[in-house]
Amino acid sequence: MKDNFYITTPIYYPSAKPHMGHAYSSIVADFFARLKKIQGHKVFFLTGTDEHGQKIQRAAEKSNKDPLEFCDEISKTFRNLSSLLNLSNDDFIRTTEKRHASAVTNLWNILEKKKEIYLSKYSGWYSVSDEAFYNEDEIEDLEGKKISKSSGSPVEWVEEESYFFRLSKWQEPLLKFYSENPKFILPDSRKNEVISFVKSGLKDLSVSRKSFSWGIKVPSNKDHVIYVWLDALTNYLSALNYPKETEKLYKDFWPANIHIIGKDILRFHAVYWPAFLLAAGIKPPQRVYGHGWILSGDEKMSKSKGNILDPIEIIDIYGLDALRYYLLKEVSFGNDGNISKEKLESCINSDLANNYGNLCQRVILFCEKNLGLKVPEYNFMKEDLKILNDFKENIENIEKQINDQNINYYVEYVVNQLFKANKYFNDQAPWTKKDDSQRLNTIVFVSLELIRKISILLYPIIPNTSLKVLNIFSIKEKDIKFDTISDNEYLKDKKEIIKLGILFEKIKR
Ligand code: ME8
Ligand code: MG
Repeated sequence: MKDNFYITTPIYYPSAKPHMGHAYSSIVADFFARLKKIQGHKVFFLTGTDEHGQKIQRAAEKSNKDPLEFCDEISKTFRNLSSLLNLSNDDFIRTTEKRHASAVTNLWNILEKKKEIYLSKYSGWYSVSDEAFYNEDEIEDLEGKKISKSSGSPVEWVEEESYFFRLSKWQEPLLKFYSENPKFILPDSRKNEVISFVKSGLKDLSVSRKSFSWGIKVPSNKDHVIYVWLDALTNYLSALNYPKETEKLYKDFWPANIHIIGKDILRFHAVYWPAFLLAAGIKPPQRVYGHGWILSGDEKMSKSKGNILDPIEIIDIYGLDALRYYLLKEVSFGNDGNISKEKLESCINSDLANNYGNLCQRVILFCEKNLGLKVPEYNFMKEDLKILNDFKENIENIEKQINDQNINYYVEYVVNQLFKANKYFNDQAPWTKKDDSQRLNTIVFVSLELIRKISILLYPIIPNTSLKVLNIFSIKEKDIKFDTISDNEYLKDKKEIIKLGILFEKIKR
């Protein structure tokens, strides 16, 4: 049995409806979850919403709603997006759920008992929008207003009694942890950022607030609510039924294999989170991957710039798989990437319609006209084995690359195989072999095998389309096994294939 695999997205703030950036993180996580599943791992894939704190309380007040009622509504839009994106998530956690509160208070009690938490007074800058405390040197002036240098969000002065977590004490253990786990933070550029932040000196962290009430109360002092990030990060445990550590989920899936997040929340995941866990005597996750921004044109999408591409609208126009394919292929994972309707359209035309769609269409039509959709006999020649064996020869390397989250390597491999398969069909030109039925049959058989292998590789990227194509071979979702891409004769026992409709319409401009 292969190792279990636990993957998470950030839990999103239900302060406004979801946008393309949220869709991006979720699609990326789904790609890995699906891939691990077909590789034979037992997978737990978690997403959800982060519903406490001042940001949410204020957003609710602004729309004159009770915070829970407010969260109920917007959390639902995130849950709906998860199904619209065809996420294979196993759970959707809300931090306003009971199971979550008990995990958070449990973790708090452990930290307090271990004297990792003490009562004092906080005075400093706070950004409600980021739910983050900032040092003086992380703040700048913009038109008379104080803002965070890193996020650009406004900060306000806070002075109140607060519990502190002894983060300073964990500076050296964290540095040791990073050096012992060199792939804990990826990509490398961000790892260096984090390490230099930690080396520059960690101060104790304020982990409770007193001036508002929307959150989980400090168990020993109900005047305080627990800092929303300590609350939120714990979702990764509470979804596994922590603190009931004897229960199966926690035993099976903790520590998480990977938290997929955006670079904006790296400090919380790569510094605070492992520090809380080390202090509580819980194993930290194995990896935190901080990806880049999805930009619209060259700018960060933002409400004020009015350049937000709504994932729901894009899916409505172009279809889900086109969006998934675009985001996974065209964004260099780890870096910032662009999306625009023009780019999406040319990607649909060139890759999906011309390359994949065309291959499937031509081969199946040929098989229908000449062989009545029967899977033919075959007798491989050298050139057949060359193209077929490429998959077997590369499988190990693909798996290795994907274990380092090299999505682009994976997608490029698939695109290349598509080109090669189209070229094979053209060069072999089975329509010129009508007098040589053995050769014609073999070319069709090889082409069908290529379609099958490529469609399995495409499953984590464009699951709906892949399933449509695999269905012609009567391969259902539960039957998809990554290893079978090495098999050159998988189809030998299939008698017939099923006809296939058009996969992607070309977009006319
Ligand atoms: O930070 N490009 O929630 P959030 C790419 N609740 N990804 C983007 C993006 C963009 N333009 N905009 C957002 C929070 N994201 C906390 C998380 S986790 C314990 C708590 C994605 O609603 C990206 O993953 O502000 C980013 O980290 C996340 O959404 C922030 O979502
Ligand atoms: Mg945010």
